[in-house]
Amino acid sequence: MRIGILTSGGDCPGLNAVIRGAVLKGIKVHGQEFVGFKDGWRGVVEGDIIDLPRHSVRGISKQGGTILGTSRTNPFEGGGPEVITAHMQRLGIGAIIAIGGEGTLAAAKRLTDAGLKIVGVPKTVDNDLDATDYSFGFDTAVQIATEAIDRLRTTGESHHRCMVAEVMGRHVGWIALHSGMASGAHAILIPEQSVSMDQIATWVTDAHARGRAPLVVVAEGFVPEHLDTAHSTRGLDTFGRPRLGGIADQLAPEIEARTGIETRATILGHIQRGGVPTAFDRVLATRLGMAAVDSVMESDWGTMVALSGTDIVNVALEEALGKLKTVPLSRYEEAELLFG
Ligand code: F6P
Repeated sequence: MRIGILTSGGDCPGLNAVIRGAVLKGIKVHGQEFVGFKDGWRGVVEGDIIDLPRHSVRGISKQGGTILGTSRTNPFEGGGPEVITAHMQRLGIGAIIAIGGEGTLAAAKRLTDAGLKIVGVPKTVDNDLDATDYSFGFDTAVQIATEAIDRLRTTGESHHRCMVAEVMGRHVGWIALHSGMASGAHAILIPEQSVSMDQIATWVTDAHARGRAPLVVVAEGFVPEHLDTAHSTRGLDTFGRPRLGGIADQLAPEIEARTGIETRATILGHIQRGGVPTAFDRVLATRLGMAAVDSVMESDWGTMVALSGTDIVNVALEEALGKLKTVPLSRYEEAELLFG
């Protein structure tokens, strides 16, 4: 069979390892042939592909980004099941492996319901997809954020300043929770838990009173108690979602005004999604890619591969959709013991 692979949505370290895992197992074990759709669903709706022979995936599992390119194209705009089916027939493609986050997998589910043969691979640095214990890219993002925050701490200490580090996390605070805990933050602010400015100022003041340079880690989607929605001044993305980023710039002057402690903000942004994946993410991504090919061989259309404990399993796409994997209150309270 000829199988088409696509990477869609925001990129994520480990995408290339998934592609390599799928191509190597598919060729070596099942004798399949692979092509890649260029730039996510755009390549699918336009029938824009490249060949993926075995040598094309040589050594790519340690490369960041995606060799196929990605986009936030919606396959139902300018495409849809009929157009895609026509391209697949013309190009002799029998099945699709779609690697992406919630938007991509929701589109894959709709297309599968319309009769297309698709299996999914979950991808998100935010780690917000339900039905998989961890998604690849998250470990790398946490590692990058932790290293950056460690650096902010030393300059903060030299200047006796409060440092606010903003990390990714649109709806969930996993990156903030893990990087904040790893770097010994005095406050961690996540979308799941609204906190007052008074409380934040108290944590900062307490840390400063002990001679520490207060360190605040905030997820981009955090909403302080006095606001209703996450900070967004950058318009909407192609799925109509507000582009986030900038809450640290809002918090820093407010903290300074309330505490009298000089405060600086740093927004890590897309640095968290760039560069080489960690060993953990390479292994997870490779295993997911290999399992996705098995799902194709077993005609498990409308399912995705996932991590359960240390096992790779197969779950229905609807299990991953419509419900986010949020940080449980118990995990936040555990971290909160160390604040201030
Ligand atoms: O969904 C992952 C994510 O990294 C979010 O944390 C962030 O809000 C968004 O993607 C950024 O998207 P873009 O790369 O389109 O700016």
